[in-house]
Amino acid sequence: MRQENIFPEDILSHQEKPSLSGKWFGKWALITGASAGIGVAFAEELASGRTKLVLTARRKDRLEELARRLTATYKVSAEVFPADLADPSAPEKIFAFTKEKGIEIDLLINNAGFGQYGEFTSVEKQRSLHMVQVNCHAVVHLTRLYLPEMVARRRGDVLILASTASFQAVPYISTYAATKAFDLLFAEGLAEEMKPYGIRVCALCPGSTESEFHAVSEQEKFQRRVETAEKVAHTGLKALAAGKSYVISGLGNYLGAHGERLVPRRFVTRMAGKMFKPWNK
Ligand SMILES: NC(=O)c1ccc[n+]([C@@H]2O[C@H](COP(=O)([O-])OP(=O)(O)OC[C@H]3O[C@@H](n4cnc5c(N)ncnc54)[C@H](OP(=O)(O)O)[C@@H]3O)[C@@H](O)[C@H]2O)c1
Repeated sequence: MRQENIFPEDILSHQEKPSLSGKWFGKWALITGASAGIGVAFAEELASGRTKLVLTARRKDRLEELARRLTATYKVSAEVFPADLADPSAPEKIFAFTKEKGIEIDLLINNAGFGQYGEFTSVEKQRSLHMVQVNCHAVVHLTRLYLPEMVARRRGDVLILASTASFQAVPYISTYAATKAFDLLFAEGLAEEMKPYGIRVCALCPGSTESEFHAVSEQEKFQRRVETAEKVAHTGLKALAAGKSYVISGLGNYLGAHGERLVPRRFVTRMAGKMFKPWNK
């Protein structure tokens, strides 16, 4: 279940030049949703900056393979803890795992999430409820578990995956867009609250991004103007390091999210509804 590869920091040469994410050089980052897409890209970029990693998601084989690869390539420690965040007890189990290992998390990346395309009443009830659990409940729970020790240390960073869907209602992915609006506002509020403690909190808002997301959410036909997961992850880490409370990845996405503020909300929702309406409705 666990990947036990400890590389003491003192084996690293002082000449080694950390990348952007060298900001977290030698520290521990916890990444949820690390088995695919943007989560893998976070892991790769952070490992290249010699950040030690705790990787979690449901697919243990993928996590173990990623941990093996990153450990071999970058000589970083990578721990694996498989967990299903739809289970309300999962955040406590992840927290207990890091405590048991004596790991201090300096960077928490709440990345795991999924959507589901379709009319609200046609989406399986349990799937909608799990979406809220994974995209919102687990985010609050993990953040609530790790923030107190960051506050005590006067040090720590939290990155939360929101979306361009956070900026308006989106019919036919109504629950997903609402969860992402929650994530954005939660991060922005916390960013302000945590400033006096020297803790940074940032919401990363990607638009369409290359990953398994569209297949999982059954919305492949809306995958357009796609950015790479690597670019999106880099944008998020850069914004967090710069102390921004949110960042929208991609200029087109930025203009879209802010441009729509100039028109009435009802109009924006209606337009989104036209774009997302199933062809047979
Ligand atoms: N791709 C996009 O276009 C896009 C746009 C805006 C925002 N986002 C956000 O970006 C984040 C990452 O998504 P992605 O694009 O990288 O999608 P992805 O390739 O589908 O990856 C999603 C990750 O979340 C994990 N996950 C899903 N359900 C989980 C559960 N019940 N318990 C634990 N882990 C779970 C998956 O791991 P397992 O399946 O192994 O559990 C996977 O590692 C999400 O929060 C998403 O809302 C994505």
